Amino acid sequence: MARSDKPVIAVTGGGQGIGRGILIYFAERGYDVAVLDIDIKTAQDVAKECTDLGAESLAIECDVTKWESVDAAYQRIAEHFGRLDVQVNNAGIFRRERIMDSTPEVVEALINVNLHGVINSSRAALKIMKDQGAGSIINANSILGFFPDHGLGVYGATKAGVNILTRVLASECAPYGIRVNAYAPSVTDTAMVHHIIEQRPEAKLNQIPMREFGNVEQIAKICWFFATDQSEYTTGASIPCDGGAWAVQRPFESWKAAGKL
Ligand SMILES: NC(=O)c1ccc[n+]([C@@H]2O[C@H](COP(=O)([O-])OP(=O)(O)OC[C@H]3O[C@@H](n4cnc5c(N)ncnc54)[C@H](O)[C@@H]3O)[C@@H](O)[C@H]2O)c1
Repeated sequence: MARSDKPVIAVTGGGQGIGRGILIYFAERGYDVAVLDIDIKTAQDVAKECTDLGAESLAIECDVTKWESVDAAYQRIAEHFGRLDVQVNNAGIFRRERIMDSTPEVVEALINVNLHGVINSSRAALKIMKDQGAGSIINANSILGFFPDHGLGVYGATKAGVNILTRVLASECAPYGIRVNAYAPSVTDTAMVHHIIEQRPEAKLNQIPMREFGNVEQIAKICWFFATDQSEYTTGASIPCDGGAWAVQRPFESWKAAGKL
């Protein structure tokens, strides 16, 4: 099996949004990349962008809810690169419905992609990483996994579940030299929530001490921290990327007191 000279990152849901942002950031900094997405067209587009930045890039159609699909994807990564240094379990979907109005389609989809997908992709990535004795797994959590909201009970429960998976996996992987952490964004500018960002709702901004919404590069920087020895003694952590959202009950009072609101 050939082994890449450069470190390799694989990102599920890498065809757009946060996943794409992470891949571009790592490609710019010397990584080779595997772009995994259920939508092969977007994965190919991102792979092309990364190639243009100097990375060796592989686009793979992969549905994280399907074990065969994930196994085949990681088999290809092993054959193509011979190594995997960073695995980002980023693929996720966002659906809103009250628990009392739950439909099997929405509940099953949320649990399958957001929770089952993380288990499935971690399991497959670890087949490569364990033999290396090193690696970093990074999961997509959310502020809603800690501070849930109306209509987002099931989504929030899947992300709270990601927090537990992150901590248990961190313990189970430590003997193999692999660390496991998570990023927990609030509203970050991607297709998932672009409608909110466009409207700039005052009520939402009032919950955020920094009074700004997030962008994908801020998440990529947290992933860089998790991927490198900058975080060599950090595992099992979920780091917020949320401008301090919900740090206090009334952050807008600080802006008023500063004469800036
Ligand atoms: N954007 C935010 O504000 C925000 C906030 C908190 C958490 N998150 C989390 O960050 C992650 C990325 O979010 P985003 O905003 O970039 O979303 P996005 O919708 O822009 O991108 C998600 C990507 O995942 C892919 N995907 C969906 N189902 C898949 C499957 N079964 N298998 C493989 N790929 C699949 C999609 O095709 C898409 O490319 C998600 O886990 C999300 O829950 C996002």
